[in-house]
Amino acid sequence: MRKQLSLLLVSISLGWVGCAPDKQADTIHLDRQLEYCDAQIRRTLSEADQDSCLMPRSMEANQTNWNMSNIYDWTSGFWPGILWYDYEATGDEEIKAQAIRYTECLLPLVTPAHGADHDIGFQIFCSFGNAYRITGNEEYKTVILKGAQKLAKLYNPKVGTILSWPGMVKRMGWPHNTIMDNMMNLEILFWAARNGGGQELYDIAVKHAQTTMKYSFREDGGNYHVAVYDTIDGHFIKGVTNQGYGDSSLWARGQAWAIYGYMMVYRETQDKTFLRFAEKVTELYLENLPEDYIPYWDFDAPDMIKQPKDASAAAITASALIELSELEDTPSLASRYLNAATRMLGELSSERYQCRDIKPAFLMHSTGNQPGGYEIDASINYADYYYLQALLKYKKAMGL
Ligand code: GLY
Repeated sequence: MRKQLSLLLVSISLGWVGCAPDKQADTIHLDRQLEYCDAQIRRTLSEADQDSCLMPRSMEANQTNWNMSNIYDWTSGFWPGILWYDYEATGDEEIKAQAIRYTECLLPLVTPAHGADHDIGFQIFCSFGNAYRITGNEEYKTVILKGAQKLAKLYNPKVGTILSWPGMVKRMGWPHNTIMDNMMNLEILFWAARNGGGQELYDIAVKHAQTTMKYSFREDGGNYHVAVYDTIDGHFIKGVTNQGYGDSSLWARGQAWAIYGYMMVYRETQDKTFLRFAEKVTELYLENLPEDYIPYWDFDAPDMIKQPKDASAAAITASALIELSELEDTPSLASRYLNAATRMLGELSSERYQCRDIKPAFLMHSTGNQPGGYEIDASINYADYYYLQALLKYKKAMGL
């Protein structure tokens, strides 16, 4: 299946070579999409309990109301982050007040009583990270530094990576496990290292990225969702999946996390090894995309065209590729990435992927956990978060 799709893609991408992204940007109607996101956010807010710290997480395909989650859920940082991006786009003080309220709901996550896993990065950096970037409030900086310290405590120097899921050590018999998603959470370590947290945090992030590059990827650039290591001598035991179709299949969001993760590690380190690696993992993803540039949930699932899509992977990748195109030292690749991101954002902004009047999320057709049997063909807050992030990045990249 992957090969057939790649032939299709070659012909599609050739079609885009001569078309400048700024021309294509017009077809996305960026301001209209930002207004749409703002309107959907206001719908969600109008339905939310104003005293509650529950966060909108997802809606299954047949639902029109959000399933809410508490602050300990791995996705709890995305809703505050969405509000911060919306405030950035609109300058609306009401939205800012909501962003502050929901962000501060997450304060218990950095108390000593909370036993974190790697998701502390998503939770704290998407919320307080954006809050500090936008407001400069020093108290938020302290929270981010505490979050980074919690994440760093999970680092095992024998292995050279962070233990992503302490809860899976006994449950799955994975003594030291490192998941691809964890690449995203190196960003809080880089940020903390630059902001008074110490060199050690930088070193941990770099070592984690190097070790993951060595063991979590197959020859073709596809990744294992979970790398399992021994805790005694640190050796790599096996690569398995948790949310993909199979241990050696290409789970779409896993590859999206890899693309974003290595793009970000290159941005932070300026080490070209990471840029070359970001290019490799990106190429595999792009070569195997279907015609509309939105992947099925796993590139290797059988009967592909009957499988659900994963718009969240497309939103994450679009956001990553806009930035990667700016970081690139090879002009042809820079335009390839920007063109691909344009295609992804254009499709996500169409009636085929936007919820519009049907429900108050931004996007439909994401797949959270297919093997687990939930959030299949759903609306999910992280798809919305990276979609809005990508729109804002795109606007900036276009100088609009
Ligand atoms: N980080 C969990 C996921 O991507 O589903």
